[in-house]
Amino acid sequence: MPRTIVAANWKMHKTAADTTAFLDVLLAELEQTPPHVDVMIAPPFTALAAASARLAGSRVLLGAQTMHWELEGPYTGEISAPMLEEFGVTWVILGHSERRAACGETDRTVNLRLHAALAQHLLPVVAVGETAAERAAGAAGERVVQQTRAALDGIPNESLQRIALAYEPVWAIGTGNNCDPDEADRMMHLIRNAVPGLQETPILYGGSMKAANVADYTAKPNINGGLIGGASLDPRGFADLIRRA
Ligand code: 13P
Repeated sequence: MPRTIVAANWKMHKTAADTTAFLDVLLAELEQTPPHVDVMIAPPFTALAAASARLAGSRVLLGAQTMHWELEGPYTGEISAPMLEEFGVTWVILGHSERRAACGETDRTVNLRLHAALAQHLLPVVAVGETAAERAAGAAGERVVQQTRAALDGIPNESLQRIALAYEPVWAIGTGNNCDPDEADRMMHLIRNAVPGLQETPILYGGSMKAANVADYTAKPNINGGLIGGASLDPRGFADLIRRA
């Protein structure tokens, strides 16, 4: 069984000061919580230093929301793996649909980022998911299998244990319209079988997950946790979600 992971993707939310205040509450809440899940928080780059300082010695892991595949170079506004690792980042989200749609990430550059993250000993969470139009056209399964295969192209079998995948249907993100857990499990079964060797790889669900529905997902055989946006922004609500996962 892959381990359970609950990961917060804060997107463009929270300053450094907000981050410290959030973590003060979250860490106090988690002291009473048995460590049955791995917890990861991905704040904006500008809050990594504050998060890293507050998380030192805690069980909460620090992630970033994306990274470039080169180590350095003429890439204005981009950030590389060594720059993230300097702040204690151990996880990185790759291929989020918002970055695919608005920031030019493609199947090919997600693959480049994944190779680079693994080479730099970061633990990647690779996000895939179909749009509403792809689902309406009956192409949802085909789309996520294709995205998964493209992302994992050339990744050696032994590295698949160091990766997590996330199924995030684009139409479910930030809409309150979460994917039915049985349907998410069916899609995640397709993802798990997209290439050989993913049986022990955690696959997270993302898309309007909250404390009230998280257990409906983690009860399913192919769902090993969540990648949470909106419901990760309040520390007490997020702690409640973690306890129910
Ligand atoms: P919401 O939880 O706000 O739907 O966002 C999900 C997501 O995009 C996490 O990466």
